[in-house]
Amino acid sequence: MKLQDRVAVITGAGSGIGQAMALQFAREGARILAADINGDAAQQTVGMVTDAGGTCQSYPVDVTQPEQVRAMIDQALATYGQLDILCNNAGIGSTTDVVDCEPEDWDRVMTVNVKSVFLGCKYAVPRMVQQQRGVIINTASVAGMVGIVKRAAYCASKGAVIALTRQVAVEYVKQGIRVNCLCPGTVDSPWVERLLAQADDRVAARQALEARQPMGRLGTPEEVAAAALYLASDDAAFITGTGLVLDGGWTAA
Ligand SMILES: NC(=O)c1ccc[n+]([C@@H]2O[C@H](COP(=O)([O-])OP(=O)(O)OC[C@H]3O[C@@H](n4cnc5c(N)ncnc54)[C@H](O)[C@@H]3O)[C@@H](O)[C@H]2O)c1
Repeated sequence: MKLQDRVAVITGAGSGIGQAMALQFAREGARILAADINGDAAQQTVGMVTDAGGTCQSYPVDVTQPEQVRAMIDQALATYGQLDILCNNAGIGSTTDVVDCEPEDWDRVMTVNVKSVFLGCKYAVPRMVQQQRGVIINTASVAGMVGIVKRAAYCASKGAVIALTRQVAVEYVKQGIRVNCLCPGTVDSPWVERLLAQADDRVAARQALEARQPMGRLGTPEEVAAAALYLASDDAAFITGTGLVLDGGWTAA
């Protein structure tokens, strides 16, 4: 078991990629705090993990709120006595270009996608420094590496996550903390379902998403969770400050 005796806090754990992370981490022995703004969804994840024999508690949190993020970290420590892994995974999308994007929508995307990562690191790092050990995994995106039409705020936010990942990694490398991010291409989570629901032609819209990835398909939440598991485990002991790209070849083309 790759995460035996480890404790992981996962944000956005009520759905998609975060939920898959909770399931895979628990299967490898980690005890999980499944945090999400949607408390019912987080509770569903708890049910799935515990049904599979794992240990998991839910925690309702808005990752944009400093006091709530601080309390989330405190809750993990109170419940499990330690904090080994933080996955800053919660995020939201945007579907406008720079001209159409309303300033308040810009702020919202940057707050949910970037400030949340800052806050998670801010409150988790001191504890990890005490332990002289810890792993942080931020969910970025290929959107932080390439331009995507009508994704102005989203691309900017994920670029910032990649940059912040590098900075925190370098700052705390001597204290035994590894910080990496995931850069998935398009992944078949409820997120994509919501995107497709807005499309005039759902089938064509899905084909267009598949076509921009040379493998001709979407990724799965499980594939992203497997990469997170690798980064969280000691198999990745020499890896910090990097972005692991999982995009079916999108950025290679
Ligand atoms: N699905 C994709 O194609 C894709 C690709 C690259 C990166 N990502 C990133 O992966 C992460 C997870 O995406 P997903 O596809 O699983 O999406 P999802 O919509 O299925 O899950 C996101 C979860 O985050 C939660 N959340 C949203 N705002 C929150 C807040 N303020 N506080 C706490 N929780 C909040 C939601 O309730 C939801 O459960 C996001 O950061 C997203 O940007 C997704």
